[in-house]
Amino acid sequence: MAIIKVTDDDIKVQSDSLAQLREYFSMRAMERGSSFTYDIHTYGCQLNESDSEKIIGMFQQMGLSDNKDHEGKDPDVVLLNTCAVRENAEDRLFGNLGEFKKTKRSNKDLIIVVCGCMMKVEENVNRIKKSFPYVDLVFDPQQLHRFPELLKESLNIKKQLVNVGTEDYIADDSLIPIARQRKFRALVPIMYGCNNFCTYCIVPYARGRERSRDFNSIIDELKTLESQGYKEVMLLGQNVNSYMGEDGKHTFPELLRAAAEMKGFSRIRFMSSHPKDINAEVIDIMASYDNLETHLHLPLQSGSDRILKLMNRPYNIEQYMSTVELFRSKIPDGAISTDIIVGFPGETEEDFQHTLDVVKTARFDSAFTFQYSPRPGTKAAAMKDDFISHDVVTERFGRLLSLQNELTFDSNKAKVGKVEEVLIEGESSTAPDILTGRTRSNHLINFTIPDELKVQGYSANDYEGKLCTVKFTNARPYSVDGVMESLKNE
Ligand code: SAH
Ligand code: SF4
Ligand code: F3S
Repeated sequence: MAIIKVTDDDIKVQSDSLAQLREYFSMRAMERGSSFTYDIHTYGCQLNESDSEKIIGMFQQMGLSDNKDHEGKDPDVVLLNTCAVRENAEDRLFGNLGEFKKTKRSNKDLIIVVCGCMMKVEENVNRIKKSFPYVDLVFDPQQLHRFPELLKESLNIKKQLVNVGTEDYIADDSLIPIARQRKFRALVPIMYGCNNFCTYCIVPYARGRERSRDFNSIIDELKTLESQGYKEVMLLGQNVNSYMGEDGKHTFPELLRAAAEMKGFSRIRFMSSHPKDINAEVIDIMASYDNLETHLHLPLQSGSDRILKLMNRPYNIEQYMSTVELFRSKIPDGAISTDIIVGFPGETEEDFQHTLDVVKTARFDSAFTFQYSPRPGTKAAAMKDDFISHDVVTERFGRLLSLQNELTFDSNKAKVGKVEEVLIEGESSTAPDILTGRTRSNHLINFTIPDELKVQGYSANDYEGKLCTVKFTNARPYSVDGVMESLKNE
């Protein structure tokens, strides 16, 4: 499918629609005596989170405010930004939509919008058309930049509007409004889509073909973020190492280096790296700039070469482990995290043992572990005859989880006694007066502030986005405790 460049004219249609919607909502608000609000629910990965920041940016330009800031009020627009990567999300979506039926009856103004990756799965869209006629607007992730135009049209036609296409767009992101939701961390997609077609994965269908953003447009965005005082940026893509710029003339190492040269950032993170594409150059860059994270997310998926082949993951364990060893030798204080799927069709006990072996040898600092979930339209979903029974998968999953829990705990224990820089993310949910943050290696730290370091008049959340050094005192299974040693003044 061709990749279509969004033209200035397309963008003009959107800004005109935003202005018209703003007028419409303000007029309606005057008539009824209360302002219009939105309620947005975001599922899935950081790319969806980033898309939602754009949707919120558009809502704000329409003159809508977050319903959370209006106690006791029902929202006027409810938007669900869905994820399709695993199965249980569907039950939740349709459950939620069922609930909205009542709300829709009591609030005639209510507009229900469903978007995100699940909307590229035909059966989900058909189910909405058939069973949830009161959903006003459906669109897929590739149509995101057209949200204002689509919302306007759906208000005009007064019946369900479904806009799910086959086009893959690339737009100049700087022309799309964005309302960043975190004070300290800015999400910066550098590419969209995925060409890898791992046989279990829905993302290439949901997000379309791989397309890299324009190099200079990313650099400009980073410079703006730096001048706005953001401390952390997260460069996002399904496979960041295949970044090539819109003109095909750039590389990820070049982009990473350029970002690391921006000294206003104290943390530059990136996700995800495909083991087939990560190279020594990226690891060398990580080792040579102190504002790059010392954490590498390197999804393994399986420790069995046989299963990796069936998954269409074009690397073997020997190659994977050589990257792990290279990283460990160049960045000894660094951390590696991974993604692992248990119960891929045809996985034998022997294959699974290989996974456990690789986990033990690689000593992952943390891991996201998943039970295989068949996704409609993917190659693996057709391997039905080889599906593993639920009981076997659960049992294997339990063994993997307890091994990884041990390793995560070990990784946390190794921090005890050290003093490292922590970027403060805010108040910890564990107890009042405890702050939470992350090290460069992405370890989660909960820490106290000695009285003499407390800033007068600050509540816990005022520390968000600030850097400090913390002495680590105690390891827990999923976090490390500590005490602040100094707060960096800026
Ligand atoms: N592009 C990223 C992955 C995005 S999806 C990457 O390749 O690293 C995040 C993770 O979800 C994947 O790494 C995989 O471990 C898991 N996943 C994807 N599809 C799945 C499925 N059908 N069942 C179970 N887990 C799945
Ligand atoms: Fe899915 Fe594989 Fe692409 Fe990651 S690289 S998004 S797992 S198809
Ligand atoms: Fe992300 Fe889920 Fe889509 S993981 S790319 S939101 S399918």
